Amino acid sequence: MTGSLVGEQLFSSPEVESHLNTLVSDIQKFSEKIETVRPPSPDLQEKAQKTVDQIGQNRGRPLFYPYVGTGIGRGCYVEVNDGSVKMDLINGIGINIMGHSHPRVLKASIKGAMNDVVMQGNLEPNMEYSDLAGELIQLAQKNSRLRHCWITTSGSMANENALKMARQKNTPANMILALEGAFAGRTTMMAEITDNPGNKIGLPDYNEVLRVPYCNKFADMCRTRCGKEKALSRLKEHVANHEGKIAAFVFEPMIGEGGYRVACRDYFIPMLEFCREKEIAVWADEIQTFARTGNFFAYETLGFGEYVDLCTVAKTIQNGATLYTEEYNPQPGLIAGTFAGSSSSLAAGYEILKILQEGYMGPQGKIQQIHDKFVSMLNSLNETSCKGLLQDAGGLGLMVAVTPLDGSKDKMIQLLKVLYKNGLMTFGCGKGPFRLRFLLPAIMTEQDIERAGEIIEKSILELA
Ligand SMILES: Cc1ncc(COP(=O)(O)O)c(C=O)c1O
Repeated sequence: MTGSLVGEQLFSSPEVESHLNTLVSDIQKFSEKIETVRPPSPDLQEKAQKTVDQIGQNRGRPLFYPYVGTGIGRGCYVEVNDGSVKMDLINGIGINIMGHSHPRVLKASIKGAMNDVVMQGNLEPNMEYSDLAGELIQLAQKNSRLRHCWITTSGSMANENALKMARQKNTPANMILALEGAFAGRTTMMAEITDNPGNKIGLPDYNEVLRVPYCNKFADMCRTRCGKEKALSRLKEHVANHEGKIAAFVFEPMIGEGGYRVACRDYFIPMLEFCREKEIAVWADEIQTFARTGNFFAYETLGFGEYVDLCTVAKTIQNGATLYTEEYNPQPGLIAGTFAGSSSSLAAGYEILKILQEGYMGPQGKIQQIHDKFVSMLNSLNETSCKGLLQDAGGLGLMVAVTPLDGSKDKMIQLLKVLYKNGLMTFGCGKGPFRLRFLLPAIMTEQDIERAGEIIEKSILELA
């Protein structure tokens, strides 16, 4: 009988709801005090530096930024324990798509925390687990054959599960086709798929990965001479040399750590067709692209959803997840694990998916508007005060990058530090040229974009 469950009574109680609303609005009062960028306070700096040093000491190497958040922010802005407020345009590398202290995300996560358990287990999931997986499947199945979802606590683990599903279905094939410039995560096998020797110093080579060149153009210029013929012929060569031994083709629909270059649909389709013909699993790693390219899935933005057998997501949903077709549904015993996710993060992930369905997606959606304004701000700086010092601005949706200064690693790192000093946090990607990349929050306003432009301009001119 509805209402007879005590849990249902708790989560639908008007009294509890009213406490929650009061709590969130009390937190908002603090959040509203975070107005805009401000410099560190001299009286807080020494203590703050000690915490930063302690973290470095604990980890055995320093933090990249002297950043320890105080636990409060507002939209793009976040307070740091040295008293400064930064504009955060990297969001913990893509975690906080709704920015800081978003009232609905906050409320969902507090409500999630009302659960009997902090962490839900795969043996004993609660409702939040079901809600998040259900919503992801709803979204995924609109434009693909994906029908199942397995939640994890990281993107790397979602990728590991996808890899196992591909290998099990296509056993004994073990090899993987992966892109040049790929990033796949930090487990042993994901470090192998990642095309960056710096991420696997001292690790053995398993020789299970075959490289396919990515498109070699920046921004939206990929349509001509992007190298798609070369990519297809390399892929075919690999398949011919390893017939029956390749389990999957894994790729980021838009390369992330590798430099935020956008490949067009024509780059992908012939390769995906060929993989389908050869029964090689098509695995889209959307851990970074998910919810950012103007559609929930970049395979929708690029129009190749019908080919996808496996798709991995994370970051935005506050958890990781592997989505898979009926065919790739693994046998019992292949994937499991203790943690299903924290009650708070599962609830917040679900709420974020709900918010994102309220005018953020599509060609006229908020994400595309932010993209257009941000890229045009960068281009206008490149044409005026920062002439030629911010080149090839582009990307997809909330993933935007630009080649700053001379494109060298040194200059890019120096620029990150100067931007931080001037109040803007972001990060790099690519190598040769090294790019400045932004994971823009979906709640960015026009005023925020203007403010970002001022800081970028000031910082570039300091270094030019
Ligand atoms: C494309 C891609 N794949 C995999 C990962 C790994 O995810 P996680 O860091 O959550 O393990 C990332 C993280 O940045 C990523 O961008």
